[in-house]
Amino acid sequence: MALPVVVDSDYLKEIDKARRHLRALIANRNCAPIMLRLAWHDAGTYDANTNTGGPNGSIRTKEESSHGSNNGLNKAIDFCEEVKSKHPRITYADLYQLAGVVAVEVTGGPTIDFLPGRRDSKISPKEGRLPDAKKGVPHLRDIFYRMGLSDKDIVALSGGHTLGRAHPERSGFDGPWTEDPLKFDNSYFTELLKEESVGLLKLPTDKALLDDPSFRRYVELYAKDEDVFFRDYAESHKKLSELGFVPSKAASPKDATVLAQSAVGIVVSAAVVILSYLYEVRKRGK
Ligand code: HEM
Repeated sequence: MALPVVVDSDYLKEIDKARRHLRALIANRNCAPIMLRLAWHDAGTYDANTNTGGPNGSIRTKEESSHGSNNGLNKAIDFCEEVKSKHPRITYADLYQLAGVVAVEVTGGPTIDFLPGRRDSKISPKEGRLPDAKKGVPHLRDIFYRMGLSDKDIVALSGGHTLGRAHPERSGFDGPWTEDPLKFDNSYFTELLKEESVGLLKLPTDKALLDDPSFRRYVELYAKDEDVFFRDYAESHKKLSELGFVPSKAASPKDATVLAQSAVGIVVSAAVVILSYLYEVRKRGK
């Protein structure tokens, strides 16, 4: 079992520097889509029943990166290695999730809350935990419910296909989902509803979102209202990035405030005790 990650002020500083490095690297190489796909594929192996898989950096192992669904992701793993070599304290698990968050932000998507402290693992789950694009509604539910995610999460997260494209040599599919695959917006949903968007990619799993009434309700909502999509996407992405992860207490700003308040309380009480003592001593001396 990996040791707990100590999220102290130095670690937070390194996270901040890695975030800046990632922004520059992603802008430079135009690689936001594949960085987002890397973060999703590291996290998306989570199994809530056995608490295995999830965002733990195990996708970097030869065993897991060679799973069929991870075709092409070595490029993103290598990009992240450049950041890791400059900021070695950061775990791979944190780095890959940070890369996903930055990829969404720099392409115009919502800000996603990021809590650091994920532990690394080299234990890879068996192949087959990520969704198969050729399947339909029940399969999508099996896969995402196994992670502990909901129908709303399934649809919101599928909106990640606003970025990037499929490559025949990687997945057998071809082309982008939207007109501007480097811009994070709600066009995945508007295109999905447009009968006439010929030439733009629709996987069987994309079409499944229209077949099921519970899924379709969210597709229509997100196509109509980008603000709602951004709010829900940010929430679902955070959930995905924290599957099976229990953030350490000090990492939470709320806890830090409570700690600071208790510290102030202790100092004030001590001052009162000392002042009363000095007052008593003075009184007795008179
Ligand atoms: C719902 C089930 C999903 C299925 C079946 C699926 C399937 C696929 C497939 C077949 C590709 C093409 C890969 C290639 O040929 O390069 C792809 C690409 C991609 N996926 Fe998904 N995906 C799913 C969910 C997600 C989620 C939840 C996200 C992120 C939140 C995501 C983000 C991406 C991105 C950004 C790309 C483009 C990568 C690139 O341009 O290199 N996908 N996905």
